[in-house]
Amino acid sequence: MKATVIANSNIAFIKYWGKKDVEQNIPMNQSISMTLDGISTKTTVEFSERFLHDVFILNNQIQTGRKLERVINFINLVRKDNTNAKIVSFNNFPTGAGIASSASGFAALAASLNKALDLEMSDRNLSSLARQGSGSATRSIFGGFVEWQGETAEQLFPEGHWAEIRDLIVILSEEEKKISSRKGMNLTVKKSKHYKTRQKHLPKRIHEVKNAIKKKNFERLAEIIMKDSDDMHKCIEEAGINYLNEKSGEVKKLIKEINKKKIICGYSFDAGPNPHIITLEKHVKEIKKELNKISSKLLIARPGAGVKYTEEHLF
Ligand code: DP6
Repeated sequence: MKATVIANSNIAFIKYWGKKDVEQNIPMNQSISMTLDGISTKTTVEFSERFLHDVFILNNQIQTGRKLERVINFINLVRKDNTNAKIVSFNNFPTGAGIASSASGFAALAASLNKALDLEMSDRNLSSLARQGSGSATRSIFGGFVEWQGETAEQLFPEGHWAEIRDLIVILSEEEKKISSRKGMNLTVKKSKHYKTRQKHLPKRIHEVKNAIKKKNFERLAEIIMKDSDDMHKCIEEAGINYLNEKSGEVKKLIKEINKKKIICGYSFDAGPNPHIITLEKHVKEIKKELNKISSKLLIARPGAGVKYTEEHLF
């Protein structure tokens, strides 16, 4: 059977960075994210005797090497027999630029395999399957505000709970990162001294973020998001890696400037230079104008839904 799924990416308010179990992608710590409406991957999967081998086409390009291998290994987790698969995927955003393409990518792939192979998995099992492709994908199965702990994620609040939140993603670079998250986090766990301190602070931070989302306390949310992003990047720097660039620093300065009178936005950086500016809908116009001084390329997302099945196949 042919199956097609659209999955949204997500931005982590509290970051996943480090694995307790490297093979299984079991995280060192809980993470909390917001699913991003319209920042998505669409994937069609079909298993058929017609295919002489597995094929994976991403953004119109036939994939080979490591990327193909990663997808084949993932399919092998659920493949029922020797039938080969064709997978066609499109990202509607730059791949590998710190917008977690692996999050929407593996969430879409997990859900399309679920349907194509009639696995009838629950969302929690689907989340656990997606995790084995990429950690951040664990959260993208669900919409709204999501928490991932251990093997699987769950929804904390649906996307309509705080519909006014926006994520302004400033595209400063579309280059694929040189050091993968997997490699970066493994090095960080080994080398960073501050890593343990961050881990110690996390339970309180997690509690506070959940509360801020529950009570829609934007100022508190923005403060914690920035703190956790800075904390993660401090650990990463101690491992001799820097995912940020000069312009990322300029954006951080600008946000601090805007927030001087009152906190109306917060920055968050994943493993890339492109800032996610979290704010409320009523401030978007003003902040966009300021950000445009640094880059004219912006994506704007509101809280989005979880994975969606569609009959509009890609082939
Ligand atoms: C900084 O999910 O890409 O975006 O599990 O090795 O595939 P793998 O890593 P990945 O790491 C994402 C890290 C992050 C923070 C986050 O999304 O929580």
